[in-house]
Order: sequence, then C-alpha cells, then structure tokens
Amino acid sequence: MKKILAVFGTRPEAIKMCPVVKELKKHKGFETVVCITGQHKEMLWPILDTFHIIPHYDLDIMEKGQTLFDITEKVMSGIRSILEKEKPVTVLVHGDTTSAFAAALAGYYLNVPVCHVEAGLRTYDHYSPFPEEFNRLAVDAVSDLFFAPTEKARDNLIKEGKSEKAVYVTGNTVIDALRTTIYPGYTHEILQWAGKDRLILLTAHRRENLGNAMRDMFLAVRDIVSEYEDVRVVYPVHLNPMVRKTANEVLGKTQKVMLTEPLNVMDFHNIMERCYFVVTDSGGIQEEAPSLGKPVLVMRDVTERPEGVEAGTLKLAGTSRQGIKKAMQELLTDKEMYDRMSAAVNPYGDGRASERIARIISDRWRE
Ligand code: UD1
Ligand code: UDP
Repeated sequence: MKKILAVFGTRPEAIKMCPVVKELKKHKGFETVVCITGQHKEMLWPILDTFHIIPHYDLDIMEKGQTLFDITEKVMSGIRSILEKEKPVTVLVHGDTTSAFAAALAGYYLNVPVCHVEAGLRTYDHYSPFPEEFNRLAVDAVSDLFFAPTEKARDNLIKEGKSEKAVYVTGNTVIDALRTTIYPGYTHEILQWAGKDRLILLTAHRRENLGNAMRDMFLAVRDIVSEYEDVRVVYPVHLNPMVRKTANEVLGKTQKVMLTEPLNVMDFHNIMERCYFVVTDSGGIQEEAPSLGKPVLVMRDVTERPEGVEAGTLKLAGTSRQGIKKAMQELLTDKEMYDRMSAAVNPYGDGRASERIARIISDRWRE
C-alpha cells in the first residue's frame, strides 16, 4: 500500500491538517501515516482528540523556551529515520512553522516529493513574521505540489516561477475545521463572566513581538479597559514562558481582563463567534474571523492575509501602544465602522479544501 506521510507539530497546523488527514483516509490504496513533531505538546494534543486523530509517530521534541536551532535539528534528525522506514510517496506539510520547514527539507534531502498545504502566503519581509516568512519560502522552494488557499497565494507562486500545473487553488482548510466546531446554543463561563459587557478576545504570541512590543500591546489593552466601563477582555495566554511573564506583569491584576489557559479549539471558535471583536497577532485567526463576521485588529505592520483586509474585516493596528489603543477606540465608538467590519465574508473557500487536496494527491500518486 502506498503511504502518505503527514507531518505537523503545532496548534494551528493540527487544526488545519486534521481535516486533510481525515479526507485522505477515505482514499483507497493509500495509508496516511501521521507524524507529529511535538513542537507543541499541551496545545496540540487536545486538537488531535477533538478530531479523533491518533498519530503513528511523536517525535516529542518540545522543550521549555526552545530555540529555532533546537526545533530544526530535532525535527530533521527525527524525521529522517521515519522517511527511510516508511518510504512514503509524498510528505505533506502545512504552512510556515519550523516543523514544516524541517520536515520539507528532510523530504527533499531524501528525494521524497513534498506537498505544501497553505502554500504561497507572503509578506515579502523576511523579519515579519519571523521566522515564518523564511519558512514558507523555504518550504515552497522544495515542494512539488502547492495547495494555495486563494488566487492571491497562487499568483505569488506563479510570479516566483512555479509551474502552473503544480499549483492548485483549494481554499483554506481552516474553513473545513470551522464547519465542525461552531454550534448554536453554546455557552461557557467566560461568556457568563462577560455578561452584557462587550467582550474583546485577545491573543498574542509572535516571536518578533516578545518583550517590549508585547508589553506595549498589553498596555494598550489595559488603557482601554480602564477607559470603557462596558468592555472586558479575555486572553487565553500562549504557553511560551516569555509571553506569560509579560502578560502576568501587565494584565495579571487588571480586573476586567481575564487571563486563561489556552482554550480548546471548540471553545475558542465558539467564543470568537460570540465576542465583540478580536485583537491578535495570530495568522490563523485572521482567516477564521472573516467567515464569522468578527472585526479583527491585527497587531502587526504587515500581513500575509491581504484577503481579509480587502474584505474589510481586518485592520492592521501596528504594534505601538498608541496605535493599538487608537484602533480599539475607533472600533468601540464608531458603530458604522464596526458594522462595516462585521459583514461576514469568506475569502477562504467553501469548507471543502481538504476534500480537494486529498483528491489531487490521490490522483497524482494512484498509478
Ligand atoms: C510556533 C510557530 C509559529 C506558530 C505558533 C502557533 C515556529 C518557529 N513558530 O510558535 O509559527 O504561529 O507556533 O502557536 O515554528 N509551549 C508549551 N506547550 C505547548 C506549546 C508551547 O509549553 O504546547 C511553550 C514552550 O516553552 C515552548 C514555547 O512555548 O518552548 C514556544 O513554543 P514554539 O513552538 O517554539 O513557538 P511558538 O511561539 O509557539
Ligand atoms: N486557538 C485555539 N485556542 C486558543 C487560541 C487559538 O484553539 O486559545 C486556535 C485559533 O482558533 C486558530 C489557531 O489556534 O485556529 C491559531 O493559532 P496561533 O494563533 O497559535 O498560531 P498562528 O495561526 O499565528 O500560526
């Protein structure tokens, strides 16, 4: 039986790859072998449970405060023996994490064709996001098939010289995941805590923002809750110790800000659907919010997701305390702007991206 090796290691990859793995399993004549790198641990396993995926391999690489060297070295050496043993027809990676980069490079070194899900995203700034912009360029440099979520991502790949025959516009698999997690009648203690107040959902974790930039972001949030009586903020804090330290120092004693552990994806999606708006430096959340009709203030200077900005749902707020504060003030006071940004649009497809990806892979390696 021909084998397909799917490799991923972090929370967002799992959310977007589990639907693909489930679709691949429907194709006869192939066995899908799942290898998690364990770049994330506590933030990864609940997602596998939610989607009922049991990995065949766990490289279990995570260390507290791991560096990019740690991740790259351990994934490269761990994947090598699995590729040599399983001899897959292709290795499937997602997005722009260091797990994806190292797994793609390992595949390339062993002449195993690489398929890239969520290919073609670009900011064309090597340091923002860091190191993701390099990772996605590097994965695309060694990939054989490219699954671009949108026409814009496809155009980037074609401009860079990829063959038109190798690039497929599939939609983003995050929409497939969203279709299974959101449900009516959902309730949670966080929503009860917020009551009738306007609830802002905050997330922040980017490596390039660790330290002073993140402190500024949190100070802006603190300014806002002291200025507006009817505003509360919930922040499921990423497990990175540096993020937690800054979050606790700046927001730990602010009454109207709730710091929680990371939420399972089911809770996160349902709370996002019921919040007033989102403030984030995340990538995946920029894709989910447009289809839920939730305005997003993106705490970055550039984004690789221009579709959401063009659709009107996303607004770049920068990373300064003043800039973020001003953007939040506008969205809290200008109802017309709020309504405009809340119009639900979906630039990321129809929720069938995984089905398409699985079919393309199966057709390509059937013979
Ligand atoms: C990684 C990805 C980033 C992605 C993000 C999603 C890289 C370089 N970065 O960044 O692209 O946006 O995941 O969240 O690939 N930790 C835990 N338990 C966990 C997960 C993390 O304790 O389950 C802590 C550890 O101390 C770890 C630290 O967080 O060392 C940082 O994790 P890491 O994966 O290196 O970076 P992220 O910021 O999560
Ligand atoms: N998410 C989650 N629980 C949380 C925060 C985020 O399940 O507490 C989900 C979110 O819905 C999105 C993904 O995690 O699908 C985004 O992950 P993250 O922001 O860590 O990474 P990025 O997308 O920036 O790479």
